Order: sequence, then C-alpha cells, then structure tokens
Amino acid sequence: MITHAATAAARDRIAAAFSPELIGRLGHALAETMQAHFQTVNRGEGNVLNWNVPSVNVRLAHEHLSHKPVNVDPARSEFAAEIEDRFRSLVSTILARSNNLHHPHYIGHQVPASSPIAALFDAVGSATNQVMAIYEMGPWASAVERSVVEAVGEQLGMSKGTFAGLITHGGSLANLTGLLTARNVCLAQSWESGVARPGRPPVMIVHADAHYGITRSAGILGLGTHQVIRAPLDHRRRMDPRGLDQLLTEYRDTSTQIVAVAACACATPIGAFDPLPDIVEVCRKHDVWLHVDAAHGGAAAFSDKYGHLVDGLAEADSIVCDAHKMMFVPALCAFVFYRNPAHRFEAFRQDAPYLFDPSTPGETSDFDSGLMTIECTKRAAAYGLWGLWSMFGRQLFADMVDTTFDLGRRFAEMLNAEPDFECLHEPQCNIVVFRYIPDELRDAPPSQIGEFNRQVRRQLIESGEFYIVQTNINGVGALRVTIINPLTTEQHLSELLVALRRVGNSIDQT
Ligand SMILES: Cc1ncc(COP(=O)(O)O)c(C=O)c1O
Repeated sequence: MITHAATAAARDRIAAAFSPELIGRLGHALAETMQAHFQTVNRGEGNVLNWNVPSVNVRLAHEHLSHKPVNVDPARSEFAAEIEDRFRSLVSTILARSNNLHHPHYIGHQVPASSPIAALFDAVGSATNQVMAIYEMGPWASAVERSVVEAVGEQLGMSKGTFAGLITHGGSLANLTGLLTARNVCLAQSWESGVARPGRPPVMIVHADAHYGITRSAGILGLGTHQVIRAPLDHRRRMDPRGLDQLLTEYRDTSTQIVAVAACACATPIGAFDPLPDIVEVCRKHDVWLHVDAAHGGAAAFSDKYGHLVDGLAEADSIVCDAHKMMFVPALCAFVFYRNPAHRFEAFRQDAPYLFDPSTPGETSDFDSGLMTIECTKRAAAYGLWGLWSMFGRQLFADMVDTTFDLGRRFAEMLNAEPDFECLHEPQCNIVVFRYIPDELRDAPPSQIGEFNRQVRRQLIESGEFYIVQTNINGVGALRVTIINPLTTEQHLSELLVALRRVGNSIDQT
C-alpha cells in the first residue's frame, strides 16, 4: 500500500516556498535593494570587481547552505519577517561579492552593463518558468522570440519574410548551430552516417582571429580542429578577400570539400570587421557557405553612423548575433539567422513522439523551437530584448552602439596623445588594445613589457578600482578594454590612465 508521506512540516515548507504573500514581500525588498545598489554603482562608488580567491568564496557559499534554515511554522507571527531578513542578507552577500558590471570603471570583456529593466522582463519569464521546445509549452515566449527574430533580422538587412532565425543560449552555441547546418548541407547524410568520406578530409576556412568557439565547433562536428584553415588577414587584422580567394582555389583544385568560410563582424582580439561585400563575392564565386560570426558587431546595424561596418552581412548563409553583447540585455540571448529559411530544419533531424505532435494544427509546428535548437527546454530568452524594444524603441540600441563605439575611438586618440601609452591599432568599434610603456621600459624586450602590463592589470583589477582584461598581440602581452557600459565617459578613461601609471609605479621592474 502506498502511504501519503507528507508531514505537516513538509506541507508548511512547500507552502512557504510557493507563497504569493512572500513573493510580494520579498519582491518589494528586492526592488528596494536593487535601487540602492544601482544608485551607488552607476555613480562609480565602491569596487568594480569584489575580488576574492575561489576557495574563500566557495567556503562562504557553503556556509550559507549549512546555516540553520528559517523555521517555517506558519503559526509563528515572526516567520515572514525572518524570511525577509534572511533573503535580504543573501541578496546583500551576492551583491557584495560580485563583479559590478554597471560600475563605469567596468570596461572588461564583451559582456555588457545590461539594462536592469530588461532583467525585470526576464524575471517574469523566470518566475512563471516560461520555456520553449514546443509552442504549446510557451506560446507567448515562442511568439515573442519570433517577433524579435523578425525585427532583428530585418535590422541586419534581410528582407521581411525571406529568412528564418532562432534564439539559443549564447554565441558559442549559436556558432555551433550555424556551422552544424553548414556541415549538414555541405556533407549530405553526415547527420545520419557521420563525416568520414573517401578522399581528402573536408576543411573549414576561418578568420585567423576567429573566436575559439569556431575551432571548437569543428572539433564537435567531427571535422577535426586540424581541418580548420586560417585565412590570411590584412594589416588591420581583417580577413583578406584576395587571400581567401587563393585559398579556396587551392582547396577546390585538390577536390577538397569546404564546409564553410567563417568570417567575423567583428573578430574578438581587436574588434576588426571583415570586408563582407568582398567576402560574399568570393564565397559566391566558389559556391561555399558563408557563416558570419557577428556576435559582437551585428548590432552596429542599428546605427546610422556605424551600420556600414556590417554592409553585406545579410548576404551570408548563416549569421550569429548576440543580444547579450551590444544590445545590452542580460545573458543569454543569441540569434542564429539563415538566409534560406529552409535551412532552419537542416541542423537537427529528430523523431521524438513524446514531444513533437504530428497532429499539431498547421502553423504551430513551425514554432516548435526544439526542432531548430540544441536545447530541448529553452528559457524565454527574448523577454528582456522584447520588453526593452517595446518600451524604448529601436533607437535605444542605436544610441548605445553610437555611445560606446564613439568612446572607443576617442580612447585611441587619448592613448595616442600620451607618450607612455601605445595604442596597438586603429579601433573600428569599442574594443581597444594598448600597452603602458613607462620611460624605464622603452628599450626593454617586448616580453618584459608584456609581462609588466599583465602585472599592472592583475594588481589593478584585484584592487577593485577598474576592471580591464589582457590579451596577446603577436605573442606579447597587452591590455584590452571593451567599452560596453553606456555610462562610461571620457572622464572615466582619463582616470584609467592615471590608475595604470600609479599601479605601474608601484611595481618593482628590476
Ligand atoms: C566574436 C565572438 N563570437 C562568439 C563569442 C562567444 O559568445 P558567448 O560568450 O555568448 O558564447 C564571443 C565572445 O566574446 C565573441 O567575441
């Protein structure tokens, strides 16, 4: 006989975890806390990164798990107040130990100070657990996704009704999805029978500075990372169309199958945008699939001033564009677009009778996102973008691109005006790479200058004053910023130069 095991205590705990009154009470507490948090952080008060070594953070996180839980006996009048106290203390702990991306001294990786208002829409999706896979599980989430796919696709230059797209969990997964589609189209039957072929193994030709996720995709797709061929770059680290043409000719002459050319708009290291119209022409000439990783720079299409950087993008066979980068919404919300809408069903061919219902009426099955994405359950990732766009209009996205791209270019001018700083390129967008070279190091070997810059950065970020990142240019360490907080100003960048000099002075270079 099956007995009903729930005790009164279990019922009380479950009731508390789902209590509408508590949701209201804690929601108010959260709103108050977040308002106070952004009032100080947006003004640049306090630390950017709250640095602690991982073992310290993990120990503290564990301590919270082993605290005595709040006694949820509903008969006790102080119960709700105790829950609220505990909630406030947990939220404060999270905020006190995080990286404050909204601090205007955060100019680090390509992860934005996202609009917190967009997060409120995400919270609605999260609180009600709206997911997709099949339309009927998330009818509104699916409709919202389709509406932003259409709106962003048209913004990128594709014509209404002629293309298809989807949203997935991040640029890496988006690149993998686009390249999987290219593989399945180029190597017929590879989904069913694998990629082994008689003759020379197929290749993928990529921008030499492509994000590591592109090469990783080649490994995952069974092509092999050794089959990734790096296309030559020009003096501004953009893919060189003539070099690409030669490379494609050589591979065609040896009857090697070319799964795709993967270009960038823009490439991660210094934000170089490939000359897409020329690359489109070369790929068309050789009849090769063109995939463009526009995870960072696709949003330039919103801007009248910078839209020219992505001219030709709409002619690619597959395009990746991350809203959680330059559309300033919280992670993760990444688009994959296909110029030919039929290609949206080429990546995955699955039979799952427990999920996909062959009797679904007409158009609804076209909204079953699980047929087009790696995810089965997929969060309502478009709510933030849809909410922001619906309230503020598309001009907001243009404003944020213009503000941050303008400041990137201005920062290069500021660096070039200082004798002890060296800007390593002419920035096309908001990614700027440079070195600090004090007088004493002017004649030092490049490796010493690179190492010095790494040390300066490490000390600076651990102090909490700024968050910037490091990279290697031609094998030598360098500093890198992405101005991806629209609240950062020229004044903050002047403060960065002062801080770098101060930290540099404190480092013993002997
Ligand atoms: C050009 C480019 N593509 C792809 C990615 C990966 O995107 P995600 O971090 O969303 O997976 C990045 C990350 O910065 C990138 O710069």
